[in-house]
Amino acid sequence: MNIQDIEQEKQQALAGIAAAADEKAVEELRIRYLGRNGLLQDIMKGIKDVPNDQKKEYGQRANSFKTEVLDAVNARKETLAAAGGQTGAGIDLTLPGAWPSLGTRHPISALIDRAVGIFRSIGFTVAEGPDIEDAFHNFDALNTPESHPSRNPADTFYLEDGTLLRTHTSPVQIRYMETHKPPVRIIAPGRCYRRDTPDATHSASFHQLEGLYVAENVSLAELKGDMEFFVRRLMGREDIRIRLRPHFFPFTEPSVEVDYSCHVCGGEGCRVCKHSGWIEIGGAGMVDPNVFKAVGYDPEKVTGYAFGMGVERMAMILYGIPDIRLLYENDVRFLRQFR
Ligand code: PHE
Repeated sequence: MNIQDIEQEKQQALAGIAAAADEKAVEELRIRYLGRNGLLQDIMKGIKDVPNDQKKEYGQRANSFKTEVLDAVNARKETLAAAGGQTGAGIDLTLPGAWPSLGTRHPISALIDRAVGIFRSIGFTVAEGPDIEDAFHNFDALNTPESHPSRNPADTFYLEDGTLLRTHTSPVQIRYMETHKPPVRIIAPGRCYRRDTPDATHSASFHQLEGLYVAENVSLAELKGDMEFFVRRLMGREDIRIRLRPHFFPFTEPSVEVDYSCHVCGGEGCRVCKHSGWIEIGGAGMVDPNVFKAVGYDPEKVTGYAFGMGVERMAMILYGIPDIRLLYENDVRFLRQFR
């Protein structure tokens, strides 16, 4: 036997002893390694064949084999004795098991799925686009002029190559119409990015739910009806009404902001609706003819509505979440509430 063999045998012995299931098994191993006809004896006998200049080291290795294996035997015997003679004994089988802790869906993902499900039930299909956009899809094709404040680097994250992090999900409208003929009826959930200073209601990264319906003779009344259907299903209240307030977006004309009668008080006024009876759910409008031109649709033939809703805002209203940052901190005590 040479020095390396001793080392290898030792490692094997230590591993075997540490894994021994009961005291009998440990004793057997002790005999195999340290007993009168054990491996240690072979090692000792081997020293006579070792060249003189290596005898000293060989002796030291043999010695450490002996002490380490003996220590391991004693340690294992002690552990097993403490565990009641053998591992496995002394366990109370009537105790309840240890349950693995199950994860939960994040409330934003769960809400997106629910909202998408409602729109799918009335014929919408899901579309997606890239988070990294170019200025054409995020702004130009959406009729947003070079001078528009939202294009400012103080509001929009630009990458070095001139691309940008999309500031809304509206570029998905453009990408979808570029590659599909009308009629179009899509719902596009996704992340958006704006250079906002984080506070209780702002985050530099958030989610929107975009909708687009283009066909012959689509009207604002259909927008109102579909919004009403959606909010009623989402809030589980059939008496919810929709109110459209005039607004401005470059890519819709006319543009509106969509409010619904408060799902908590029914419009009477309460804390949730800040005593107004109404809650805003998103921006919307009739697709601007310039947008149709940018994607090669004929604005004389088709009309359409589009809307964009903030998912975090919706979640905060629905679940009474006071601070948007709670949605990103992933504190399990918060997340577990949405099981
Ligand atoms: N893109 C708009 C926003 O981010 C929302 C919107 C979408 C408005 C579609 C009108 C039509 O605020």
